[in-house]
Amino acid sequence: MSTHPWYKSAIIYQIYPRSFQDTTGDGIGDLRGIINRLDYVASLGITAVWLNPVYPSPNDDNGYDVSDYRGIMLEFGTMADFDELLTGLHARGIKLVMDLVVNHSSDEHRWFQESRKSRDNEYRDYYHWWPAEKGTPPARFSYFDPTGGWTYDETTNAYYLHYFGHKQPDLNWQNPKVREEVKDVMRFWLDKGVDGFRMDAFQFVGKDTTYPELPPTTAANAVAVYGLRPEVHGYLREIKREVMDHYDAFTVAEGAGSTIQDAVDLSSPEREELNMVYHFEIADYAAKKERFDLIGLKALFTKWDQGLAGKGWDSIYLGNHDVPRMVSKYGNDSPEHRVASAKCLNTLLLTMRGTTFTYQGDELGMTNVDWPTIEPYRDLQARNQYKTALERGDDMNEHLSFLNKFSRDNARTPVQWSDKSNAGFTTAEPWIGVNPNYRSINVVAQEADPNSVLHHFRQLTALRKAYPVLVHGGYEPILPEDGRIFAYVRTLDEASLFVAMNWSEETVDCVLPELFVGGRPLVDNYGSANGEEDIDSNEVNYSSLNLQTSSFCLSPWQAVVLQSSTPKP
Ligand code: GLC
Repeated sequence: MSTHPWYKSAIIYQIYPRSFQDTTGDGIGDLRGIINRLDYVASLGITAVWLNPVYPSPNDDNGYDVSDYRGIMLEFGTMADFDELLTGLHARGIKLVMDLVVNHSSDEHRWFQESRKSRDNEYRDYYHWWPAEKGTPPARFSYFDPTGGWTYDETTNAYYLHYFGHKQPDLNWQNPKVREEVKDVMRFWLDKGVDGFRMDAFQFVGKDTTYPELPPTTAANAVAVYGLRPEVHGYLREIKREVMDHYDAFTVAEGAGSTIQDAVDLSSPEREELNMVYHFEIADYAAKKERFDLIGLKALFTKWDQGLAGKGWDSIYLGNHDVPRMVSKYGNDSPEHRVASAKCLNTLLLTMRGTTFTYQGDELGMTNVDWPTIEPYRDLQARNQYKTALERGDDMNEHLSFLNKFSRDNARTPVQWSDKSNAGFTTAEPWIGVNPNYRSINVVAQEADPNSVLHHFRQLTALRKAYPVLVHGGYEPILPEDGRIFAYVRTLDEASLFVAMNWSEETVDCVLPELFVGGRPLVDNYGSANGEEDIDSNEVNYSSLNLQTSSFCLSPWQAVVLQSSTPKP
């Protein structure tokens, strides 16, 4: 019996409900859609689902602007649907992690509606207000609002603070009543049986309510300037002590401050704050670059692994609803390399130390879109960026090609279920365009193809469950200075596995550590699998691999997991 908490070995699948499956014919995904697809979700071999926000919301930021923390968004269904979903997941042995969006609420939340009514309203201090007679408030950055983080509100002649959109006013965590409200909301969902929370934008909840002048801030330094103020640690301990300790559930907060030390402080068990961090350094490193440098990327994985080893716990991810599609960003989404590179990236995700997260569609190798105008974009960040670029007089063709590569909408196009109209996502006009490549990239086609990204993903989840070394074992980088090979040995007690991936379009030689000479592949994305996901009975044709000498050859984007010639359990 493992003594590790369950969430460490969880294989988390992220569902963005709006784009998962529509059943009501309104072009918007819903909870019933997820319920109808539960057998598919279970078939992936994942063990937990993280559900993006499902609460009532005006949807200025697709549910990240919550107007009622205890309800279900009308478009998504009812609380009865939610309960059925939770039961259906649990019946399949799958846990459910909710998104908790409490750095800010919607401006349509009752608390804010009250707060803005008068300066002496009992909810006034639920938010951050700056009276206009004190002059212009000290500048604050907003991720989504190009005019800045304060918005003037006429009713009480005051400005309110929002680090995100102007319809997302930041809650005032210094007010104990706000913290009581949040803890109650958490208990409400935990009492229903949910298994954890992903705490949205949580590093920003701490604010100095004397509102001092701060250094000029942009997206690039906002975390360093605003993130993880000291009081955040106290808030987390309070939540742990008063709420989480009473349930078998876990917390992960989005963002982890700026340094490894921050991440250790947040996730080391003795400090009783969070159970794991979800940092941005790797996602940011590869962001907004035409081609990132693999040596640097590997160094970051190593830095985070070593920094947290034995002290804290990390999340491993390459995709989510806020970043472009992983195969387009890190892999190669051309017809020639998409399948192998998507499998290669999934190999990394399922063999690295930490809790692993897969974003919906990445088990299929879904790609970025390529939209010629701003019209199809739905994300407020993309639309605001476009407006700002237009006002600045930027080259708009260039800007559109920037959005095509980096917009969050890339990840938000509907899941591609089949080659039927709208990819089988909806019978109506979808809320956001379907990627036209759904005709060839879809679940039905991949179920029928034993060599698909989907079947390979299932092999990897089976592998991770069968080999605890992949979750808990030490990580030793091999060839850290090689610009094409990403390789490491994972070791736990006597067990040892070698992961070797070729992150390039060329055929390359890779060293084979002595222990693995004469060893055998457990998974190989070039093997012709027979669709069987049971690792031990899987008859795979590995003839392309010669493991008899101290080096072997990897084809473009080839990724293998090898067991030593004398395997130990
Ligand atoms: C987080 C969410 C993102 C949202 C933002 C504001 O970064 O992941 O989607 O827009 O917080 O809530």
